[in-house]
Amino acid sequence: MSDFEEKVREALAAPKNQGEIPDADAVGTVGSPDCGDMLRMWLKFTEKDGKRVIDRASFQSFGCQTAIAVASMATELLKGKTAEEARDLSANELTGDLGALPPMKIHCGQLVEGALKNALDQTPAKAPKAAGPTLSDAMKPPAGKIRIVPLD
Ligand code: FES
Repeated sequence: MSDFEEKVREALAAPKNQGEIPDADAVGTVGSPDCGDMLRMWLKFTEKDGKRVIDRASFQSFGCQTAIAVASMATELLKGKTAEEARDLSANELTGDLGALPPMKIHCGQLVEGALKNALDQTPAKAPKAAGPTLSDAMKPPAGKIRIVPLD
């Protein structure tokens, strides 16, 4: 197992900051055109030393293990950052201790970066009070649109 795979495995053993922040100030959701995976990120800001900084960040993912590991690292890294500092972080910086992503996994980091940037684009005034449906809700088929036929 490569060093990278080992670090991903460790991050997945105890992923941090999973699940929604109900009173989040901003929510960002993206889907990867490369693999169809989805990731949503919630941000909660606070005032510290006269600056508005990220107090908490969390995520929910229908994504691969790398995306989950990166999101776990990224949501830890974001604590204490201003929106501008957070926006300046590249996908490679968001990976934290995982280090640089292998070429085949770069889009997994970009999924996390995209959800973060999407959340940062939501000004607090515009951010929805509630995050809306969770990703698992969003994946459910609309009522009445499908018929479920039990197998024999
Ligand atoms: Fe889709 Fe990693 S393979 S985010």
